[in-house]
Amino acid sequence: MKEKVSVLIPEEELTAKIRELGEMVSREFEGEDIVIVCVLKGAVFFATELAKRITVPVTMDFMIASSYGSSTISSGEVVISKDLDTDIAGRNVVIAEDIIDTGNTLSKLKRVFENRGAKTVKVCAMLDKPDRRTAPITGDYVGFSIPDKFVVGYGLDYDQKYRNLPYIGVVEFEEE
Ligand code: IMP
Ligand code: MG
Repeated sequence: MKEKVSVLIPEEELTAKIRELGEMVSREFEGEDIVIVCVLKGAVFFATELAKRITVPVTMDFMIASSYGSSTISSGEVVISKDLDTDIAGRNVVIAEDIIDTGNTLSKLKRVFENRGAKTVKVCAMLDKPDRRTAPITGDYVGFSIPDKFVVGYGLDYDQKYRNLPYIGVVEFEEE
């Protein structure tokens, strides 16, 4: 099977939207500072672009986390394979995510940060696939709501490929 990627959201639209998201976050945290938590690897392009558009003081930190389906592990805990360096107690945390899909990872991460005593925990997501949601979470700032299609680019991968595309694309498979 050969893959073909077609453009869903062009680069200019992403750039404009991320600028708007940055302005929203800046307005909301006027007079305060924030910690942007980038969930690796997918959110790295989005998080850095977002950070550049924020006008309040920003520190950035990075994390690798994955979650198991809620039914398989009763505790439903999130596995953190790279944790933050920052003590987030009393801080305003903005989680930068590439996409909210089932919402599993994010809802658990949010709880982890709240348990660590963060002052606020907000979710800023580039993309949202609301049709796929199983966990009770909504993004506080969302770039684009998209249909239930597998997308790549701007950090998102298919089998670790296509993260470097400057746009969001949809992968299609065709017979060779
Ligand atoms: P969930 O919300 O816990 O189900 O997991 C979301 C994660 O799954 C995202 O951070 C992505 O890494 C990955 N993901 C979900 N949908 C897509 C997609 O369409 N393309 C690429 N990765 C995806
Ligand atoms: Mg991810």
